[in-house]
Amino acid sequence: MDKVKKEQGKRFLVVANWKMNKTIREAEKYIEELKPLIADLKVPIWIAVPYTAIHTCREKFPATIAIGAQNMNDASSGAFTGEVAGVMLKEAGADFVLLGHSERRQYFHETDEFINKKILRALEVPLKPLLCVGEGFEERETKRTKEVLETQLKTCLKGVTKEQMENLLIAYEPIWAIGTGKAATPERVKETHADIRTILEDMFDQTTAFRTPILYGGSVSASTTEELASTEGVDGFLVGTASLDPQSFAKIAALSENVL
Ligand code: 13P
Repeated sequence: MDKVKKEQGKRFLVVANWKMNKTIREAEKYIEELKPLIADLKVPIWIAVPYTAIHTCREKFPATIAIGAQNMNDASSGAFTGEVAGVMLKEAGADFVLLGHSERRQYFHETDEFINKKILRALEVPLKPLLCVGEGFEERETKRTKEVLETQLKTCLKGVTKEQMENLLIAYEPIWAIGTGKAATPERVKETHADIRTILEDMFDQTTAFRTPILYGGSVSASTTEELASTEGVDGFLVGTASLDPQSFAKIAALSENVL
């Protein structure tokens, strides 16, 4: 593990999740404001936007910024009124797709089995899946976090090969930290990311476990960035609320750069 770590050095990635925010016009305004603020940054930046803004974002953001969707259907095409297929996202300009976000699990009843089908489809397209996992408040209080993560990871990643894992990322997003302004403590994040790596090692191998980027998400803000970015095992952030304002998102990206 140490050998691999040395070879790779510190990596870090900052991902925005706009959720159901920003019309095309609002996205254009955001891009114009954000571009000069991040022009000199080295840290990779990815932005997950609503379906309707993918094409505009791809056209107007520099090619170095990856654009992603926040969901997709598991089928390749067909009679699924209102759904969007991975190939459509790809052609619209998406490079990656968030899958398994807790808001989709909670409000749209997505199960680990369904998320697994979407992951396999995304890899086939290919789109890079950014799989979100995380425990709820009750599960945390009853000390079932590792068990919950193990079930989510084992089911969502069923049938994914080691080679495919090279194109997949994981975000640890404790549900109790999302949109609450209360990020998890660095100690808890360090411990949980280590647990996720152990589970991945058990499922695949040590190299795959180390190479898979594990991001943290849940009330990341400029004030928590430095502490969380330098936490062991954190390879990036998935930022919701604070990504909606170009100034605060750029600040998070700039502060994250210190760990590179
Ligand atoms: P907040 O940053 O608003 O807590 O949202 C986190 C999140 O859900 C990102 O996917």
